[in-house]
Amino acid sequence: MSADTSLDQVSVDALTRDQAEAELARLADLLAQANAAYHTNDAPVMDDAGYDALKRRNAAIEARFPNLKRADSPSEQVGAKPSDGFGKITHAVRMMSLSNGFDDADIHEFDASVRKYLGAPGEIAYTAEPKIDGLSLSLRYERGELIHAATRGDGAVGENVTANARTIASIPQHIDGAPDILEVRGEVYMTHADFAALNARHTERGGKTFANPRNAAAGSLRQLDPEITRARPLAFFAYAWGELSEPLAETQMEAIERLAAFGFATNPLTKRFTEIDALLAHYREIETARATLGYDIDGVVYKVDRLDLQRRLGFRSTTPRWAIAHKFPAELAWTHLEAIDIQVGRTGALSPVARLSPVTVGGVVVSNATLHNEDYIAGYGSKGEVIRPDEEGQPKDIRVGDWVQVYRAGDVIPKVADVDLARRKSDTLPYSFPTTCPQCGSDAIREEGDAVRRCTGGMICPAQAVEKLKHFVSRGAFDIEGLGAKQVEQFYLDGWVREPADIFTLRARFGSGLQQLKNREGWGDKSAANLFEAIDEKRNIPLSKLIFALGIRHVGENSATLLATSYGSWEAFERAMTQAEIGSGTAWAELLDIDGVGEVMAGSLVAAFHQEGERASIDRLVAHLTVEDAARPKADSPVSGKTVVFTGTLEKMTRAEAKARAESLGAKVAGSVSKKTDLLVAGPGAGSKEKKATELGIEILDEDGWLALIGDA
Ligand code: IVH
Repeated sequence: MSADTSLDQVSVDALTRDQAEAELARLADLLAQANAAYHTNDAPVMDDAGYDALKRRNAAIEARFPNLKRADSPSEQVGAKPSDGFGKITHAVRMMSLSNGFDDADIHEFDASVRKYLGAPGEIAYTAEPKIDGLSLSLRYERGELIHAATRGDGAVGENVTANARTIASIPQHIDGAPDILEVRGEVYMTHADFAALNARHTERGGKTFANPRNAAAGSLRQLDPEITRARPLAFFAYAWGELSEPLAETQMEAIERLAAFGFATNPLTKRFTEIDALLAHYREIETARATLGYDIDGVVYKVDRLDLQRRLGFRSTTPRWAIAHKFPAELAWTHLEAIDIQVGRTGALSPVARLSPVTVGGVVVSNATLHNEDYIAGYGSKGEVIRPDEEGQPKDIRVGDWVQVYRAGDVIPKVADVDLARRKSDTLPYSFPTTCPQCGSDAIREEGDAVRRCTGGMICPAQAVEKLKHFVSRGAFDIEGLGAKQVEQFYLDGWVREPADIFTLRARFGSGLQQLKNREGWGDKSAANLFEAIDEKRNIPLSKLIFALGIRHVGENSATLLATSYGSWEAFERAMTQAEIGSGTAWAELLDIDGVGEVMAGSLVAAFHQEGERASIDRLVAHLTVEDAARPKADSPVSGKTVVFTGTLEKMTRAEAKARAESLGAKVAGSVSKKTDLLVAGPGAGSKEKKATELGIEILDEDGWLALIGDA
């Protein structure tokens, strides 16, 4: 180990002045390299968490030794330069992702869930095709002409990359005989041969190289200059569609054949099967052929073949019920565990991160991996079970200095799976997990039943505050152009922005002169002015985004949307959260009544609104905002906003399908009849619920009446 590597093991408090100076030099160098790699596009050398940890260490050393602060101090650099970027395109039909299966059992379960949802439909055919490891693209044709091309983005809004898509040979500019409106979706990728040639050209010219074909494809498609894209050989496979003015076909297979007839490249390994075992056999064939295909794939996608069944099955919040990706097994590698760092997240969770000797796993260099929590390090799972038994069944713990097995499955963060006890040195010690927060020194405690130890510092903990801010500006939350994770961290360290509300007073505090901002590296007159404009744009914010942005534990994007559509307005939501008491009362019961909200999430929401500091910070924020009410889905549907109860036997659909269909039309589906019920749909065998509805004078329909009402008859 070099002197430098051992220095990074020394805690900031323990550094001598000389060591601090050397460490600041090392950090400046590392961060400059990371910045360069990041900005020269799609070739990052470290992940965000690792970058942030270095930046924080740098700031902590500077705070202890202010005189040692370097002229090129990384804390003076704002990092990512706000990109002028591409225009935005709102997808006419959302771009969805896929749920994943990892073994045969998952696929049998998928088939069972399809059958259950549809209610014993007899034979079901599925298509199976390779899952291309590229990036998805949506192409819109109107009357046969390519109008625009958009990346997936957040699924709702993507980037306009039309000029670049036009340079891709396998994307037709014009098609004959197509529906008037046709959106074709598929994957942009780069073949292994083209990838190798591109990297060889770049190496020759002393330029950067790409880590893998996917990064090369992404970097090439997202070039602001289409002439650069033209020089990068990209290809496209069509496998799905978005908006259509008329259906393409009756089945997935025929629809893909039509896309092929229009001139799109479609994957030749796409096949149709009626038996799950045949589907799985095809998976193994594709897996065997994987190395000879000439492009990267990371699994096999199965889709229900009949499009009428796809329509009935519909979507969960972000994935279709009619398709699944069967992923290839994760790739593994052994490496040396150099250190365990603790990162502090937005909710105070202390997350152990393995710092590894860099190792290539599935084509990507990995130097950090998650170790989950202290039990995981000790060898226990979430239920106290032994997860890494040695020969005697005792848990194998993980220690600094060990040889560990690392794996990566798809895009997920690499994980440490196993440890090699035979190579363990005799002088290693079990890892002792900190009981105070390494960032602010507050106690870090574990609540009963929680695997995670949390810092109790709240907003006084700089790590929590910074992570909260990062979450606040992230995609899906406020997503302020030019104000990313790096910039908010910088603003925090400068003391300019301590909590979300401060973002909205930046202009008032610094606006007129812009001097302080524009003199910073990475900022000019234009980008500073753009930033204030981008902030102003977000003063109007949809309710769901605001709820998500608050960063309340257990409240993710989907839950935030659920809450927004249930309460409709900020006023109603805020009132309910204020009134609710954990475990009792109407407001609490109503919160739990929302399908998808459980006690844990509800408790976390109510606690956040009752915690004085947090509540005050929310109020300060909302004072700067105009919160847009949540659009009730399909306001024009005859059942929108109504509360419906299903009872008895349904013959034309399963209960799950009936519920999902009603919800997609804006109705609320409840399990029991009450004064709030608007409509009871009663099939044969309905009992007490029908009686109660009659007593309460609630409208009662049979299944056919319901289908007629919603226009599905
Ligand atoms: S179908 C509504 N088919 O995988 C479902 N996706 O992990 C639309 N992908 O976002 C997707 N190969 O970018 C489909 N043969 C294939 C695919 C494929 C790659 C990508 C796609 C999607 C992601 C989900």
